[in-house]
This record gives sequence, C-alpha cells and structure tokens, in this order.
Amino acid sequence: MNQLDKRNQLIKEWISEAAEISKASFENELVIHEKTNRTDLVTNIDKEIERFFIEKIETFFPGERILGEEGSGHQMTDLEGIVWIIDPIDGTLNFVKQQNDFAIMISIYEDGVGQLGYIYDVMQDALYFATKGQGAYLNGRRLKNVEDTPLNQGLIAISHRLMADETNEEARKIGRASSGVRMIGSAGLETVHVVTGRLVGYLGASLAPWDIAAGKIIAEEVGLVYTQLNGKKIDLLKHNATILATPRAYNEIMKNYHLER
Ligand code: IPD
Ligand code: CA
Ligand code: CA
Repeated sequence: MNQLDKRNQLIKEWISEAAEISKASFENELVIHEKTNRTDLVTNIDKEIERFFIEKIETFFPGERILGEEGSGHQMTDLEGIVWIIDPIDGTLNFVKQQNDFAIMISIYEDGVGQLGYIYDVMQDALYFATKGQGAYLNGRRLKNVEDTPLNQGLIAISHRLMADETNEEARKIGRASSGVRMIGSAGLETVHVVTGRLVGYLGASLAPWDIAAGKIIAEEVGLVYTQLNGKKIDLLKHNATILATPRAYNEIMKNYHLER
C-alpha cells in the first residue's frame, strides 16, 4: 500500500478530531434510536463520526471503498483492493449510559489483509495502533509480545450474550476454568485488554466486521490468535462468533470446550 506514513499521520489526526466530537456531545442531549432492540442503540454522534471519517477518506483517498457500521458499504461482497473499516463508536451502550469505556475504531485492509489498525480508548486517551509486520503500539510505545498465559492463570472477557445464554453452559465452564470473568461491553476495549496482557482471552458471541477488523491487526502483532469459534479464519463479510486468546488459552478452549460453532 502506498503512502503508509501519510495515511498514519492523517488517521491519527482524524481520530483526535472524532474523539473531540464524542466528548463535546456530553454537553448536549443525545438523539438515540433503537436499531434491532432496546440494547442495540445508535446515536446522532455514531452517525456524525462515521460521516466525518467518510468525508475525510473521500477527500484524501477518493475511490477507496468504505465499510462502516452506520450504513456504509453493507452491500459489499468482496474485500478486493483497499477497504476502510469503521466503527465510529464501539460500546455505544456504554457511551450512552456511562460516558466511559467506548472506543473509536478504524482500519485499512488491502485484498483482505489487515494493514493498519487503530483502537482509541477515548476516555483513557489511549491510542492502540498497529501496522502489519511492524508491531503494535500504545500511545507511540511499542507493545511487547504477550506472555503465553494459560486459561487458569488469567482473567477472561466473555460477552454478555454468551454468559447470559441459559442453554449454553460451556461459556460459564470456561469462565470457571479461568481466574475470573470480566465484561466491558466494547469488543475493541476487550481486545486491547488481551493485547496488553490484562486479559488472557475474549469470547464474542456475534461480532460484525467493524467490531473485529482493527483489533485483529493489533492482536496478531503481539502474538495472539484470533479466529471464529469453529477454528475457521475470521470472515470480514459477515458476523462471526469469535475467540481471541493467547496461544495456550486458545488451544485449551478449542480442545476442551464445545461452544456453539
Ligand atoms: C458492540 C460492542 C459489544 C459487543 C457487540 C457489539 P457497538 O458494538 O462491541 O461489546 O458485544 O457485539 O455490537 O454496537 O457498541 O458498536
Ligand atoms: Ca458502533
Ligand atoms: Ca462495535
């Protein structure tokens, strides 16, 4: 991909501006709509931030394709060429109810391969970033490869949906086999907690491409494994049941437990 440094510099500037939009909104009343149900929300700020990124991309990189949660590119049937993948606010429920623990996520894929990935934890002012093959960074500081911690030595994030599913005892068994379960409610932030070794893994019930795309690039740069729960490669054209974990925890979970696959 051409002009990697230029892209990197621009994207970081855009993320700062988008973060200001999200924080400025705390002063005003949000316009909130339910998408599929009362826990699946979208606000005027999710839409405004997606629009903001699209305008920037169309200005600086005209013709490149965009897949964004709030409506862009949902009819896409392949990932050929350059594709930008945007989640303007990941953790919208947290954004609305807590004004905390939400992230801005953006990434660039080329022919289906992740090249640049960004997750910005707005309220912590923590920017996680990776370039394929060149390592992952937190606020400009290179992140170490993760320690290969086994499941019984680490905390694990398991999505609310998996834990609350009464017909699925396996997720709770995995939780019991770990040191403890943690839930944040932002796939991006759960991912960066695994990336920095604060969690040993993260199980997602049904993640969309924009929930996964940036985090997968960052996670793979520090030696983590990120696949569908059935062991297949992540498919960024559909929703995926996901597992992200250290290699040891990944192998244990895949061998010993039988989550919906
Ligand atoms: C959601 C969050 C949540 C995950 C959901 C996602 P959104 O993203 O990442 O933690 O469990 O599957 O849809 O809708 O807040 O961007
Ligand atoms: Ca979102
Ligand atoms: Ca999301």
